[in-house]
Amino acid sequence: MKVVHTIQELRDQLRGQLRIAFVPTMGNLHDAHLALMAMAHQHGDPVVASIFVNRLQFGPNEDFDKYPRTLQEDIDKLQRQNKVYVLFAPNESEMYPEPQEFRVSPPHDLGDILEGEFRPGFFVGVTTVVLKLFSCVQPRVAVFGKKDYQQLMIVRNMCRQFALPTEIIPHETVRDTDGLALSSRNRYLSEVERREAPRLYRVLNEVRARLRAGETDAAKLEHDAQRELAAAGWKVDYVSVRRQRDLRVPAREEVAGGEPLVVLAAAKLGATRLIDNLEI
Ligand code: PAF
Repeated sequence: MKVVHTIQELRDQLRGQLRIAFVPTMGNLHDAHLALMAMAHQHGDPVVASIFVNRLQFGPNEDFDKYPRTLQEDIDKLQRQNKVYVLFAPNESEMYPEPQEFRVSPPHDLGDILEGEFRPGFFVGVTTVVLKLFSCVQPRVAVFGKKDYQQLMIVRNMCRQFALPTEIIPHETVRDTDGLALSSRNRYLSEVERREAPRLYRVLNEVRARLRAGETDAAKLEHDAQRELAAAGWKVDYVSVRRQRDLRVPAREEVAGGEPLVVLAAAKLGATRLIDNLEI
């Protein structure tokens, strides 16, 4: 695997490649990232990964400064896995040599709901860096995890609307044996919090089970789920049943009529904010 730090070196390495499969990350790689790399390997050649902690997508009171930066460990993991051909690991002045004044602005009805409501500016930051990374890498396909469900949908819509030649391939959420979705932020959890954390997934499963059993009052399900989390000490941002196709709130007839749904949640356990979702 070649590790490059500049856009010029990256372009030199990739010149003439037409089937690049790309996995953008913020590093601190775990098994879910490695699963994305393996999927990329099935869909293209060469596989390119990036590691860049993107300041633009962090709010002023978020964890940009303490976000785990473990480049050498990440390189070792990728080298052992042996699926990635080029790792692009730019520093901030390479990605943003001047203030990034041109930004991508996702539509409000998709970018300002759910995660966008609780993390203002988050999706502007994500889409701006993803577009810029795509412009550097020029991938034919790019793999994104479903844990960041809204991100996946927004990036896919961005590619469609800008006619980018990159196909977005989703990867199922990778979970620990107790159901907790793998995330770099899990490492912030104390031992006690780590034992509590799988409740988020269990609660989503309860919502799914009740929908499958014929419950059509999504608001009641959301309320019950939020109450259960709050009773266990979580600070809930949202638990929300949405339509898969556009993340809008489904009408009761749609819930009853088999509209594909997804239940999404975000909640804080201590100082750690976790997100998860389940398709129904
Ligand atoms: O999902 C992530 O890790 C980030 O949002 C991404 C897509 C790498 C953009 O910084």
